Amino acid sequence: MSVALNQVIPWGRSLQEYTQMFNLSAKELDLRILGVGDGPASFNSEMTALGHTVLSIDPIYLFSRAQIEGRIEENYDTLISQVKQNSDNFVWDFFSDPAHWGRFRLETMRKFLEDFEVGKVQGRYLPESLPSLSFTDCQFDLALCSHLLFLYSVQLSFDFHRDSIQELCRVSQEVRIFPLLTLNGEKSPYVAPIQSYFSEAGFTVDICRVPYEFQKDGNEMMRIHRND
Ligand SMILES: C[S@@+](CC[C@H](N)C(=O)[O-])C[C@H]1O[C@@H](n2cnc3c(N)ncnc32)[C@H](O)[C@@H]1O
Repeated sequence: MSVALNQVIPWGRSLQEYTQMFNLSAKELDLRILGVGDGPASFNSEMTALGHTVLSIDPIYLFSRAQIEGRIEENYDTLISQVKQNSDNFVWDFFSDPAHWGRFRLETMRKFLEDFEVGKVQGRYLPESLPSLSFTDCQFDLALCSHLLFLYSVQLSFDFHRDSIQELCRVSQEVRIFPLLTLNGEKSPYVAPIQSYFSEAGFTVDICRVPYEFQKDGNEMMRIHRND
């Protein structure tokens, strides 16, 4: 899939947030992890600094550090004012208020930007796109997809979701997706049909409560794993 940078708003989360969103145990951090649509999250950078193994994919990794940084700066004020205007839709717990949220996000994305060029050379940031990936079967233990599938249910079709999750189940033993809400804060209409589809295909599909909630009621993730 080709992507134009002006169609993407780069925005990224931290290792602490990934740990909570996906209920990651200390042992799970040692697995071979695929970060799916990681964008400018600092997850890969922070995990690598701690000696863990993460490979991140995102179409925006085609672009340079300066191009991604420019796009973050262009969108920052708009995103902050949107969150301020809609602050009742969010839980102010992990973040105390929109200003704290904005500072935290910038700090997170700064960590990503500082790691990006070296991580690209090391092959930790690859410009790949769902629904089709270059990896071999079961190359990863755990694929983590934060704020892409289900969140963009209006923009991305059911077929895209099914094909993408099928592909993630091919390359990884287990897939976790968070959140299960759309951008409007409603439960994605694809959650139930995806759960049925993959259960019928022989996978175990669980919906688990997690200790992270920023969008109101957005405190559930989906786990899909092989039965063998
Ligand atoms: C809202 S951001 C989430 C970033 C990160 N996962 C996080 O939670 O902080 C969504 C990301 O999905 C990426 N994306 C869009 N289409 C994609 C696709 N087909 N395959 C993989 N990533 C995609 C975007 O470029 C963007 O960086």
